Amino acid sequence: MNGIVRFRELDDAPLSDTYKWNDPPAGTIGASVADMDVHLAPPVAAARHDAVDRSSTGYVKSHMRSVADAIAAWHQRRFDQAVDPALVRFAPNVVNGLIQAATVLQPKAPRLIMNTPVYYPFFAVADAVEMQQVRVSMVEHAGRWVLDLDRMDAEAAEGGIILLCNPHNPTGAVPTREELEGVAEIARRHGTPVISDEVHAPLTYPGYRFVPLSEVAPDLAGRHITVTSTSKSFNMPGIKFAWLAPGTPELATAIDRLPEMLTYGTSSFGPAATVAATTQGDQWLDELVGHLTERRDRLGALLAERLPRTNWIAPEATFLAWLDFRAYGLPDEPATVLRAHGVDLSSGTVFGEEGKGHARLNFGCSAATLELMVDRIATALEG
Ligand SMILES: Cc1ncc(COP(=O)(O)O)c(C=O)c1O
Repeated sequence: MNGIVRFRELDDAPLSDTYKWNDPPAGTIGASVADMDVHLAPPVAAARHDAVDRSSTGYVKSHMRSVADAIAAWHQRRFDQAVDPALVRFAPNVVNGLIQAATVLQPKAPRLIMNTPVYYPFFAVADAVEMQQVRVSMVEHAGRWVLDLDRMDAEAAEGGIILLCNPHNPTGAVPTREELEGVAEIARRHGTPVISDEVHAPLTYPGYRFVPLSEVAPDLAGRHITVTSTSKSFNMPGIKFAWLAPGTPELATAIDRLPEMLTYGTSSFGPAATVAATTQGDQWLDELVGHLTERRDRLGALLAERLPRTNWIAPEATFLAWLDFRAYGLPDEPATVLRAHGVDLSSGTVFGEEGKGHARLNFGCSAATLELMVDRIATALEG
């Protein structure tokens, strides 16, 4: 394909200054940290070069109307999602944004309800805001990973904030409108505030529709904050820029009152890179999702052929595959075994106890890297 998305190959100039490629021993394929092996989208690269050329390296405020306008127009165009640009507030990254959101949404009890296995920094968010981690397991139903609404309801009755991961990492589930209506119903019944981490939304695969919680529950605006970024979808987490979209001016004001120590830290390259991604990045992003769809399908074919005892549900969004290797007699941490064979997957149990016997594989890589990765796993497990 002669497109604009360019994947990196293993023999390209090394990215040894990144966690993904610096951490594992030389020669090991990095498939854990959620960066993709893809070159920056040309408009994002150009914006960053331009910012350097202008020496635009000063401090960034937590709200700039022109940037917020670009962000709001992107939400509208890509997801049919209404975001009021006047309320958008910046953060250095999504996780920091989650901490800001949890700090301003005052729950009846200090409990953070999340759907495990889950992106493990959610546990750290609970610890940072001194809330109890309340873990509700995702359930497998009719070939999909779904939210356990009954258990979420029971937990919300005890108080707390629901921290939703939509789409969900590591299962790749895209909660349906019905599931989100169920979450909204729970929030209404118990007066529960909700935070939605929607950072993987732009990477939703054909055949699925990402539904923002704000679309199904506009009435919850007074206690709902969306936190997101282009960091995952445009592969620029190191640029350090994310945003909160609180539902009401009161919530935005509460965010403005947070200590600067918390809100400070946004990169001076963030606004330009994000405006470039959100205003000029559609073609690149669409093409990327096409490539990732191919990788996901190829991974499915390779698993069936080379690792037939692996259990998985193909993700509905994002470049992460949640693999169950228990049938290989690996009840604890398969990733430890695989690392010895030159491929670095994320350990399953860091995402919660449901992760025993599981590992998370990052397939945001070139076709050739994916083949080699599966070859190494197959050699390790099938001999
Ligand atoms: C659900 C989720 N939220 C947040 C992040 C991290 O975003 P940031 O680096 O902007 O904090 C990730 C990264 O993988 C993620 O999967």
